[in-house]
Amino acid sequence: MKVTYYGHACFSVVAGGKTLLFDPFISGNPLAKAIEASSLRADFILVSHGHDDHVGDTVEIAKRTNALVIAGFEVGEWLLKQGAPRVHHLNQGGGFNFDFGRVKYVNAIHSSTMPDGSAGGNPGGFVVESEDGNFYFSGDTALTMDMKLIGESTRLKFAALCLGDNFTMGPDDAVKAAEFVRCNEILGVHFDTFPPIKIDHGLAIGKFRAAGKTLHLLRPGEAHDF
Ligand code: NI
Ligand code: MN
Repeated sequence: MKVTYYGHACFSVVAGGKTLLFDPFISGNPLAKAIEASSLRADFILVSHGHDDHVGDTVEIAKRTNALVIAGFEVGEWLLKQGAPRVHHLNQGGGFNFDFGRVKYVNAIHSSTMPDGSAGGNPGGFVVESEDGNFYFSGDTALTMDMKLIGESTRLKFAALCLGDNFTMGPDDAVKAAEFVRCNEILGVHFDTFPPIKIDHGLAIGKFRAAGKTLHLLRPGEAHDF
């Protein structure tokens, strides 16, 4: 599966012949100045929770591409009101079969206020299953035992895990999360964007290597085939 990283927690995955774009925070990201939100392709946009650094450019991209937005109920309702043309609402524990594969909305321990201060429901992550393979995106979360349920039920090709610390898991907890979901190929997200989440890349990569896992820390615009 071809994965392209666009900075912070934004990346796209080509699965089942469709382009899935996650948490498209581009124009507000000081580290993604070389990326143009207006040039991103998407058939589906998956939004993990209501915070501005995840909702980001979702409405603009959805309007331009007519992508179907997949999000938790409250986040989906808010995006519809802002002008996103098409939204599929999920809620925790629920999955749905789309044409490219199945998306399940799973637990995250975090908060989820929308950019205008309204309530965004509970935050989440996504487990995506497709003919090209399965993967997990944690969203913003603490380490949680719930991740073991994903490892027990789904064989993952890779997992995109937040690891910038301060607002989410740091590298040590992300190694544990990788163990809980039983995955050895990790895409690191939610690091370096703001001063409190700057991480030592070599140190983080070493922690994963010591656990027999590979941590990929891509530069915005860089791609990797999982
Ligand atoms: Ni957040
Ligand atoms: Mn965040």
